[in-house]
Amino acid sequence: MCGIVGYVGYRKASPLLLKGLKNLEYRGYDSAGIATCHAQSCIEVRKGIGKVEEIEKKLNFESLDGDMGIAHTRWATHGAVTDRNAHPHTDSTGKIAIVHNGIIENYGELKEELIEKGHEFRSETDSEVIAHLIEENIAYGFEDACMSAFNRLKGSYAILAIKEGEDKIIGIRKDSPLVVGIAEHGTFFASDIPSFLEWTKNVMYLYNYDIVIAGKEGIRVYNEGLEVSRPIDTVEWDIEQAKKGEFGHFMMKEISEQAETVMKAIKQDRAVVSAIVEEMKNAFGIFFVGCGSSYHASLAGSYFFSKEVKMHVNPVLASEFENYEHFLTDKTLVFAVSQSGETADVLEAVRVAKGRGSRVIGITNVLGSSLTMEGDASLLMHSGPEICVLSTKTYTSQVVLMNLLAHALVNRYEEYMADVKSLYLGIYNLTSRTMREHLEELAKELVEEEHIYLIGRGLQYATALEAALKIKEVSYIHAEAFAGGELKHGPLALIEEGTPVIAFTARDNCNKILSNMHEVKARGGWIVGVSAKESDLFDYWVKVPEAGALNPIVQIIPIQILAYELAVLRGVDPDKPRNLAKSVTVT
Ligand code: AGP
Ligand code: GLU
Repeated sequence: MCGIVGYVGYRKASPLLLKGLKNLEYRGYDSAGIATCHAQSCIEVRKGIGKVEEIEKKLNFESLDGDMGIAHTRWATHGAVTDRNAHPHTDSTGKIAIVHNGIIENYGELKEELIEKGHEFRSETDSEVIAHLIEENIAYGFEDACMSAFNRLKGSYAILAIKEGEDKIIGIRKDSPLVVGIAEHGTFFASDIPSFLEWTKNVMYLYNYDIVIAGKEGIRVYNEGLEVSRPIDTVEWDIEQAKKGEFGHFMMKEISEQAETVMKAIKQDRAVVSAIVEEMKNAFGIFFVGCGSSYHASLAGSYFFSKEVKMHVNPVLASEFENYEHFLTDKTLVFAVSQSGETADVLEAVRVAKGRGSRVIGITNVLGSSLTMEGDASLLMHSGPEICVLSTKTYTSQVVLMNLLAHALVNRYEEYMADVKSLYLGIYNLTSRTMREHLEELAKELVEEEHIYLIGRGLQYATALEAALKIKEVSYIHAEAFAGGELKHGPLALIEEGTPVIAFTARDNCNKILSNMHEVKARGGWIVGVSAKESDLFDYWVKVPEAGALNPIVQIIPIQILAYELAVLRGVDPDKPRNLAKSVTVT
């Protein structure tokens, strides 16, 4: 959830670190701080609680001197949200500073041991032990001291360390994200790429336990004591994609990009797709595993495979996946679906699957993420950075990819590509000004509601679930989805005069969902129809094209916009809804 940034090079570090922190803000945090120094000067640390901008006003980060430094946005796991607990943390002498993302599980015993040896702790965090552990072995030199300190840690961590008198940053990752950016003027470290995209597109991805030593003269990487080489890739993302441009919020920008991102998602390497298709044909048991929106895309995927391919795939919430462990063998194929590729629940599911010898294919947006490093193969969404906490464009790209695999399995790849391409204008129109105004009107009708219910059947049930998630995440209105057929088994009791119900209808199951709408209408419900065809039952109609297997794409977009408009009307920042973070790196 938190973010770390580091820079060592020929420029003043603090403005770069500050910018890097701001670019990471979307990950969610409660405090932040920066430590900088020159090789020959003292380390200076400034940190505090609140938003980066507020802390910056108080502490004037940019006046920190030095051509090397580390920075952190914290999402507290151990120790309250206080100035003292904010990172960076220093050792007893104040000559070593570290930032840490993750959890040090054995910090209790390490802390006791270090206190006995005379170390004085200033915070309640698990992270502070790292600085003291390095101090403990500093007589052997900074590099060796870091290596032996890192060896003692249990848990998940991405760590950056600096020391007075040393012209380098030492970093390590284990189960927490860390990437290295190679710019002309220096080296960046960060939890993710948008943090340094303004200065470089050259990225080095790291494996678990990689230790990176970066100085002005270059980089060395070690793993298990041996020097290793890691390739440097050029990322296809560019900084404009990570900026809001003319849009007020990333959420609306990302919603509006979908005509393009859907087209990018179908541009896949045919050889990669064919290899995956072969694996699916030979697999004995296929799972789609994800959280939140990625789970909803997996559920939609299970309908595609059932309908198009007559193949059974099991969509499972990643946090529940361990309950299915006994079904896994070396013939099982597990698709781990995750925009970020860093979701801890998903990565845990990957480890469960690998532990049983199953093959794992990641469907993700972030090359170099833990998922791409730990999975056996990956299918990339190519959506560009998604900054808003809510998944919008990456959800539709996931749906596109699942559908692509299903069509490829029945040799209808070309036909599918043509279908998707013919939808370009349709998707584009869904994000037009007229559509937005129509949805703003709807938002005005719904803004004071406490509850909104959503119904659909088949593919439209998956859409209803995703739509409910969008509304609740960003407007804080209670939104709940039901399979249309389930209404009479309980939820009908909730419907009274004026209760809003959003119904997703499509050609293939029109009559059944019409019956469900009658049930709602008979009890006074106020129906919003999302469909290609109008109905007398609708009190408000949101017209979308009829897109068959691609309905989950065209039907979710208006609700993404509705959720956005509700957030704006209710005074919520759509990019950063309360209590949520973009990457959920804790289980
Ligand atoms: C979606 O709007 C949510 N913010 C959330 O449910 C998200 O889809 C979930 O945390 C999974 O993230 P991932 O795709 O990066 O694994
Ligand atoms: N566990 C550390 C803390 O509570 C780091 C949390 C984070 O990743 O932000 O300070």
